[in-house]
Amino acid sequence: MEKIIVNGGNALSGEICISGAKNAAVAIIPAVLLCDGVCRIENVPSISDVNVIIRILYELGASVKVINSTTVEIDPTHIHSHVLSASMASKMRASSYFIGAMLGRFKKARVAPPGGCDFGVRPIDQHIKGFEALGATVTIDGGMVNAHAVELTGSSIYLDKVSVGATVNIMLAAVKARGLTVIENAAREPHIVDLANFLNSMGANIMGAGTDVIKIRGVSELHGTTYSIIPDQIEAGTYMIAAAITGGDLTITNVIPKHLESISAKLIEAGAVVQEYDEAVRVIMRRRPKCCNVLTMPHPGFPTDMQPQMTTLLALCEGVSVMTEGVWDNRFKYVDQLTLMGAKIKVDGKVAIINGVEALSAAPVKATDLRAGAAMVLAGLAAEGTTEIENVEFIDRGYDNIVEKLSAVGADIRRVTYIDPNLGRSAV
Ligand code: UD1
Repeated sequence: MEKIIVNGGNALSGEICISGAKNAAVAIIPAVLLCDGVCRIENVPSISDVNVIIRILYELGASVKVINSTTVEIDPTHIHSHVLSASMASKMRASSYFIGAMLGRFKKARVAPPGGCDFGVRPIDQHIKGFEALGATVTIDGGMVNAHAVELTGSSIYLDKVSVGATVNIMLAAVKARGLTVIENAAREPHIVDLANFLNSMGANIMGAGTDVIKIRGVSELHGTTYSIIPDQIEAGTYMIAAAITGGDLTITNVIPKHLESISAKLIEAGAVVQEYDEAVRVIMRRRPKCCNVLTMPHPGFPTDMQPQMTTLLALCEGVSVMTEGVWDNRFKYVDQLTLMGAKIKVDGKVAIINGVEALSAAPVKATDLRAGAAMVLAGLAAEGTTEIENVEFIDRGYDNIVEKLSAVGADIRRVTYIDPNLGRSAV
């Protein structure tokens, strides 16, 4: 097993280059299934969620060629199966995208329920509503979601809840359906736009991605393409907070500053200086963070996937801040870990009241999920002493070389292998 060890207290300075976006990659890679031809995908992040999704395509029969550390070529011609077993699907949330992609390609899909971070209930009723509106019959039996259709026909779908997953899945199922599909109250996240751009580069006809009405005119076939994934908004935001929480000065490169506006706005409110360039942002923090209130919302609101990291910064603020989670029912599990480090945070349902403390102190902590794990790293960078973070496999799901990237800007951070203490052996 591995843990990350951080000796806190260093102000970070220098440049960090952002990798391709996880949530775009895990939508774009299953979408390859829909095309007749070879797709070359560039700026692919080196993270375990992407490895899992590529592995799934490979096991379904795709041929996968790794060109270099950020580029893959995938040929889906020989994909023969429309079934995704629990052993494959349960590793991540985005495995649900195979339902839409397989429906689009085979008119049938049998997929075990998706896994992913545990933020409370994660229903897929809006995905199913969309598939049914396109003419599919969807049932759940033997623990599997079954969807099949004689023909998929365009339709108007109003999402009762703004859902990234449902928007992606309906786009995948509709792109080769007959006629026009309209998704209303669609999610507007940058990765929705990236998926639409990818599908359009294969010959799809999708308009309005990035607004709350997406129109998809079905096409009969999609061809191979070369496409570069957008930079990861959440990885960039996490390093922006790394600058702020360590009183540092970081330039985050290979970003789309527009995607970071809600994060920049809150960092400025908290006392940071944020400078925007064409493809970079620089964050400088020369003071103790000021308190501020944050509400997470679908894009363009403050991203829920930045909530644990921002709460960690506010744990050190002057005064009292309120963090309200507006997307998930239960996304404050990590607060117990921050409390172990001296944070004073009270959680009541979807609201956390954060009484800023002057300093955090190192402690052994656990990553309770992906972004919570990033929050522990940030807390460790700011804390006095040596913080040990367990369950790093969560962090590896979404952060490409986090230890190397932080070391290069002055963090004292390393990864160590240790023997499971349950086996009665000590860390090495
Ligand atoms: C995606 C992201 C995740 C992020 C989330 C919100 C990926 C792989 N994951 O997750 O990191 O935290 O967006 O930005 O991109 N809902 C329903 N019914 C549905 C679907 C969703 O009620 O059928 C609800 C959910 O319970 C939640 C809200 O809608 O309260 C948003 O969920 P959704 O946008 O679908 O999240 P994911 O796509 O799972």
